[in-house]
Amino acid sequence: MGLIPQAFIDDLISRVDIIDVIDSRVPLKKAGREYKACCPFHSEKTPSFTVSPTKQFYHCFGCGAHGTVVTFLMEYEHLSFVEAVEELASRIGVPIPRETTQGPAPAHDNSRELYDILTRADRFFREQLRRHPQASTAVDYLKGRGLSGQIAAEYGVGFAPPGWHSLGEALHDARPSLLVQAGLVIEREEDGKRYDRFRERVMFPIRDRRGRVIGFGGRVLGDGTPKYLNSPETPVFHKGRELYGLFEARQALRQLPRLLVVEGYMDVVSLAQFGIRYAVATLGTSVTPDHLQAMFRATSEVVFCFDGDRAGRDAAWRGLEQALPLAGSEREVRFMFLPEGEDPDTLVRRIGPEAFEERIARAQPLAEFLVDQLSTRADLSRMDGPAMLVELARPLLSKLPAGAYRKALLEHLASRTRMALSELLPLLGFAPAEPHRGTGQPFRGTRRGSPAENRQAQSPVRLAIGQLLQQPELSARAGDPSRFADIPLAGAQLLSELLELLQANPHLNTGALLEHWRTRPEGKHLAKLAVPVRPLDEQKAKEHEESLVQEFDDTLARIEGFRREMRLDELKRKPLREMTSEEKLEFQQLVTSQKT
Ligand code: UTP
Ligand code: MN
Repeated sequence: MGLIPQAFIDDLISRVDIIDVIDSRVPLKKAGREYKACCPFHSEKTPSFTVSPTKQFYHCFGCGAHGTVVTFLMEYEHLSFVEAVEELASRIGVPIPRETTQGPAPAHDNSRELYDILTRADRFFREQLRRHPQASTAVDYLKGRGLSGQIAAEYGVGFAPPGWHSLGEALHDARPSLLVQAGLVIEREEDGKRYDRFRERVMFPIRDRRGRVIGFGGRVLGDGTPKYLNSPETPVFHKGRELYGLFEARQALRQLPRLLVVEGYMDVVSLAQFGIRYAVATLGTSVTPDHLQAMFRATSEVVFCFDGDRAGRDAAWRGLEQALPLAGSEREVRFMFLPEGEDPDTLVRRIGPEAFEERIARAQPLAEFLVDQLSTRADLSRMDGPAMLVELARPLLSKLPAGAYRKALLEHLASRTRMALSELLPLLGFAPAEPHRGTGQPFRGTRRGSPAENRQAQSPVRLAIGQLLQQPELSARAGDPSRFADIPLAGAQLLSELLELLQANPHLNTGALLEHWRTRPEGKHLAKLAVPVRPLDEQKAKEHEESLVQEFDDTLARIEGFRREMRLDELKRKPLREMTSEEKLEFQQLVTSQKT
């Protein structure tokens, strides 16, 4: 699939109103020219969450959350960028165009048909659990495993009846090839004969983050094999990306305290039955970076639950290797090991939810598990133990971005190997002294609010960018933007780009403007500059808007002044005989303008 064209996003942001989108999730109250609510991103009693209809931008004076309508959906609904755009597009009923890249046109995308047929199959399976003459075996099985009707309904548990063509016949109006593509029907290679994939099984629908059914897992009622049968990979179902139970967890809990990663469908459902509503299962694969990303979009703590045996520890180690690059102070990863022979389903039944949650609370932090595992491999009782440990740790630690988290890990490792941090760091290939704030260093560099920093904060280029983000219409006053592009001031190139974009598209509001920079490194800074300094009442806001025009003109004049100085300097250094006649004229003009 190609990229979503920026023009489409511009259009989308001009057509959906951020007020409507937020109001339908967090009821807003009009306050002057803006709208307010208690912030959905932190808990508060008086509203400091503000949404501006003119800017199409929200910000919270309490916690600093801010962004566009797209950002809001991503944060509030835990959607990816593309999902958020899809949501907005479907709101106004427009399809998302994709920029075609080189090569053959992408195959006809029939995912909508696939979702439809999967939804119909889901409805069929659930109905069979209630209606089919042989459903009682399935109902008895589920009861035998302690499932209530309510949890079964929340997870959409169904029943695939016996027989080779039950589903095929129920959906006989659907194209057979679609049923095959959706993974519901198997087509035999030898003779092209088709039959239902799932027969006489308890069915667990797998839903994506938006709640659409994308596949199924089916369990045999007795001891047959395979115990679980899963949908194959299809255009809408990718096992490396989806987590069973994530949608249901998010439905059940507005704020996920954490996510617990378990192995099986029944573990998820059974924990839910006991009130532990935040378990998810990978679908027969080990955890992938996509899984982790999806989880960390929804919560800040992920606890892996593994068997206590050797295989479990190995699986945990693979999980650790995946999680390491993502872990950090704000993204906690922990590991929990089950007693021999238990899985979460059996354990929670045996010890009850409170004791189970206590075990979760005692789960091992990633750093500890890492060092533990390394220690057992390195055999610290030997003379060269610490050296081996360091050797084993090196490739893993190199995956971690520098920061507080890596530092904590290093300290842990140092204490385990009984080495001083200063000894350990060079062995791991890090600079000898990871900056150790506040210890024994008389000069700690520039402090907050030092003159250097203030000067930077007041750089006219930065000011102008901020003013433009507050009021994009100002761009009309700027004249030719290209003259700013080469000024040796930080952000000058960005300023000229912003102006050019706005002059070509005068109707872009702040939100739409920010979306142009979403994927670029400057995007975050730009969004911050769009946040107003403090709340203003109606009268003050009007005055502020008027004064902004004057301020913007002044700021640009300062930049222009700087540009002239630079240019004059440059021309002064050029021998006269090398100057073109235009340059001579320019030189003359610059000198005169300086005198006035
Ligand atoms: P387990 O064999 O541990 O089963 O498989 P379980 O979850 O404890 O199942 P119950 O309690 O007997 O019902 C764990 C997970 O591995 C995958 C499934 O995702 C299952 O939930 N699996 C297992 C399969 O895909 N196929 C199989 O045949 C077995
Ligand atoms: Mn089990």
